[in-house]
Amino acid sequence: MKDILQELKDRRAEARMGGGARRVEAQHAKGKLTARERVELLLDEGSFEEFDMFVAHRCTDFGMEKDRPYGDGVVTGWGTINGRLVYLFSQDFTVLGGSVSETHAKKICKIMDMAVQNGAPVIGINDSGGARIQEGVDSLAGYGEVFQRNITASGVVPQISLIMGPCAGGAVYSPAMTDFIFMVKDSSYMFVTGPDVVKTVTNEQVTAEELGGATTHTRKSSVADGAFENDVEALAEVRRLVDFLPSSNREKAPVRPFFDAPDRIEASLDTLIPDNPNMPYDMKELIGKLADEGDFYEIQAEFAKNMITGFIRIEGQTVGVVANQPMVLAGCLDIDSSRKAARFVRFCDCFEIPLLTLVDVPGFLPGVTQEYNGVIKHGAKLLFAYGEATVPKVTVITRKAYGGAYVVMSSKHLNGDFNYAWPTSEIAVMGAKGATEIIHRADRGNTEKLAEHAKDYEDRFASPFVAAERGFVDEVIMPSTTRKRVARAFASLRGKKATMPWKKHDNIPL
Ligand code: HXC
Repeated sequence: MKDILQELKDRRAEARMGGGARRVEAQHAKGKLTARERVELLLDEGSFEEFDMFVAHRCTDFGMEKDRPYGDGVVTGWGTINGRLVYLFSQDFTVLGGSVSETHAKKICKIMDMAVQNGAPVIGINDSGGARIQEGVDSLAGYGEVFQRNITASGVVPQISLIMGPCAGGAVYSPAMTDFIFMVKDSSYMFVTGPDVVKTVTNEQVTAEELGGATTHTRKSSVADGAFENDVEALAEVRRLVDFLPSSNREKAPVRPFFDAPDRIEASLDTLIPDNPNMPYDMKELIGKLADEGDFYEIQAEFAKNMITGFIRIEGQTVGVVANQPMVLAGCLDIDSSRKAARFVRFCDCFEIPLLTLVDVPGFLPGVTQEYNGVIKHGAKLLFAYGEATVPKVTVITRKAYGGAYVVMSSKHLNGDFNYAWPTSEIAVMGAKGATEIIHRADRGNTEKLAEHAKDYEDRFASPFVAAERGFVDEVIMPSTTRKRVARAFASLRGKKATMPWKKHDNIPL
């Protein structure tokens, strides 16, 4: 009996060694933690329960039968984050380069199936040389099985990907289909074809970091939602994100204790909007002042900065915030900002996270580039996402709400539940100057007359009151009372039930 127990201990010790001391050292030398160290940091202390520690591949080509390491290059299992269940996999680069074999993929599929059945998030830590080259199509089949599970799980349980090393070729498509991707600066990269192939095919010369590093994907491509300095920071931030999210579409997000009065009056908000309508101000200041304890978890902070997306809590309840940022491109809508916000709105809607929209939008960005690249279709994504969202929707217009962008930004017409406006709001088809030049074309060149017309237009439309007369704005509110008004609005919507007519699924303009 003693021998059998000892054998188990020995086998476990062997599995836990991963690829051995030399490879672990090499991993650390690259500034990366090992697969198991990452799991330990991500989960609550002592909560990890491992599956399939002794799984080994069954490939016999290229002498692989002599190299059958325990675990087959991925650590899988479940544990808790601040007491809440999550399933996870962590690829072990020290074992066959974390490459994906048939059995490696099976391990990932097993925990994904468990996550869906039990209604808990899946967190994937990616650090892999890609398809196990010795296995050929068995490896590809494994990827395919994982992809199918990513799709099946989408909208059922939150899926979060951490890229903490290489992630290349078709392998990128598993994280690409998850809800959030986070990368580590200087030690992770993602691309479909690497620098060598790019050089051969297009003659472009780039490094792996330039082609697919964290900076590229958080600033240029928007493939990633956030970039962190190192593994430790990335894992800590994912823990923070999980706290905001529901475990599945069968549950609401956890309500956390809060130490911030919901009816807090913020006198400074009464002077947030500058007198000059062309002067910017920082919308993040408003978000911070509305949030419980000022806590804001921003998503895609470095991309399309004219739009802000992220999570706050109000009265302890998670709220998704979408806000125009007047500090960047005057807060206009364009291709990037529309796509960014649309995806965020859809995430919130499928996981029953109420939406708060803060509006200061002068319209869509004009330009040949925008039109050629399909601003019509991309702008429609955001319009569509808001219109189909049935979660509680509260909107506050702080200043400009012009033209189509007014309608898009969670207006009353798209089934907004509470649409508030500050007295500083200007809700109109366009700005007074542009409007006057069109209506009073005959007076072109007569600056005095045009100024007079512009003043007339402003008096009539540069306010929230025409919209309020129509009931398109439910109430004009004092800026200083916004937290209280928004908190009460969301509280009154906790029992909201809204449905769309039956359909197989919609056909959002992709
Ligand atoms: C088998 C692999 C492997 C792979 C790495 N290793 N990638 N084994 N299949 N795909 C092994 C190496 O042989 C080595 O073993 C160990 O992992 C560490 O690799 P190194 O090359 O020493 O590490 P490093 O110098 O850091 O380079 C990392 C790397 C490189 C850039 C990822 O290993 C590499 O280019 N690997 C091949 C990448 C690739 O072409 N993958 C297939 C892509 S196609 P030892 O024993 O020496 O420690 C693909 C399709 C997916 O993924 C399709 C989905 C539908």
